[in-house]
Amino acid sequence: MFQSSQPVHGDAFHDRASELARLEAFVAALRAGAARWIALIGPRKIGKTSLIVELSRRATDVAVIAVDTQEVAQPSLEVFRLCALRTVDRLLAGALPRSLEIAVASQDDVDGVLDATPGFAALPERVRSTIRALGRAEMTDDFARLCLDLPERLAEALERRVVIAIDEFQELATTGKRADPLPLVRSTWQRHKRVGYVVSGSGRTMLEELVARKHSPFFQHFDLMYVGPFAEADAIELLVAECPPGRRIPAALARRVVAAIGGHPFYLQLVGETLTAGDPPYDEADVKDALQRVLFSRMGRLALYLQLVYERAVGRSAYLAGALDALADGPARVTDVSKRLGASSGDTARYLERLGDLVRRTDDGRYQLDDPVLGLWLRWRRPGGSAVPMGLIGDAAEKEVATHLARLGFELVYQARASRGAFDLLALRGTTTLALQVKRSALPLRFERAAWQRMAADADRFGWRWVVAAVDPDDGAVRFLDPGAVRRGKEIRVGDAAVIEHVLEWLT
Ligand SMILES: Nc1ncnc2c1ncn2[C@@H]1O[C@H](COP(=O)(O)OP(=O)(O)OP(=O)(O)O)[C@@H](O)[C@H]1O
Ligand SMILES: [Mg+2]
Repeated sequence: MFQSSQPVHGDAFHDRASELARLEAFVAALRAGAARWIALIGPRKIGKTSLIVELSRRATDVAVIAVDTQEVAQPSLEVFRLCALRTVDRLLAGALPRSLEIAVASQDDVDGVLDATPGFAALPERVRSTIRALGRAEMTDDFARLCLDLPERLAEALERRVVIAIDEFQELATTGKRADPLPLVRSTWQRHKRVGYVVSGSGRTMLEELVARKHSPFFQHFDLMYVGPFAEADAIELLVAECPPGRRIPAALARRVVAAIGGHPFYLQLVGETLTAGDPPYDEADVKDALQRVLFSRMGRLALYLQLVYERAVGRSAYLAGALDALADGPARVTDVSKRLGASSGDTARYLERLGDLVRRTDDGRYQLDDPVLGLWLRWRRPGGSAVPMGLIGDAAEKEVATHLARLGFELVYQARASRGAFDLLALRGTTTLALQVKRSALPLRFERAAWQRMAADADRFGWRWVVAAVDPDDGAVRFLDPGAVRRGKEIRVGDAAVIEHVLEWLT
């Protein structure tokens, strides 16, 4: 089943064969006594946490301890107290009468819990006193060192191997007032033989800075591992495999979805969820409808997600908004963007810099959006952008008609599938709704009476005006045809006499 609200694992986990292979090699090295460090770098929601969860499910003989720097009030050394508590909970599981993390958080009698733990007294004195102090000691550099060291000492005493996974690790670089904690972290971890470290985060630039720049205390300690969108075949497989029972998405349709939005697993889950919420069987029109509902509508789940991403990056700056919008059409040079903004190229370069992870440099020195779906969404919400979906997922005729009407100031939408309506598109302008049946064909057009009556009845029921839009297969010209000026016989014949010269005038 599609799921988009939590990290996935087990059967719900797809793709990532090469990433898992690398992580499994990392665990194998740890078993053999070589503790390594890996940095997982990837955009928001790409599946970093899922990878860690799946690794922890697969590597049963090592304890994978996961923490997120944002679980503590302010990203700070406190996160290492949390690491220590979770390691104790995990390595003493079965012996501890209850979770030490919870006992500490609820200020319960930690000593009582420990005294009731079989085997606790047999641990080395240094380990025991550190564990006891977890509930009361203030976080100082000295205590942080003990916390940082505890997993290794405990693993040693119990002859275990541990992987510590710290998410949003880059946040530790900005702990504010106090001196940089990272040299302390590095110097402690460096002596560990039984604990491997996986750090991850969505701040690509910050995390890269932290682990791969020369001046960083972590320089050359981490292997970098980039997590990106799924390749086409894996993306299709995800859509096909996660369908609820009896609600199959055919591979050909899954391919259409992937062609439209790419392989970001979170996006695919959202579209899959929406598509299979309707009744099967599914066809092209359902794909259009699902994408419209998820991405190309103000309240769509992916649209709302992108809106948040956008607001975080842009804030109130019209320049940042403009710079982002300039990249929505594809890679651009600083000078191209600066022309669009009417700003100097020096300023423009700084704006592009401030857009951070949303933007990346191409090999030829241009800038481009990191996420092409953000580009689609940005283009869609421009004035006249409502024809973008028809260009992306419609056929050529729909695209022509939508573009034509968008220029006249209409907002285009697909007719909702739930209504199983007779029309292809709806064009909205002010209080007017114009329903359209789109045909790629030369005049005259012919319709069966039943199909024609369905359109007339739909329009009547909803109070819509309606036309047939014909796109000439030879020259691409768009003609709108008045359903009131047709010849009715055994079939309906729509010829030159029905051509509407000015749609806007005709509508008034
Ligand atoms: N391997 C996968 N197989 C199937 N779906 C996945 C996979 N990875 C991620 N997803 C989908 O993406 C969503 C986000 O995944 P996850 O929470 O692991 O990403 P993340 O990179 O840790 O996100 P964040 O930036 O919020 O920390 C999941 O809820 C799931 O819908
Ligand atoms: Mg995560």
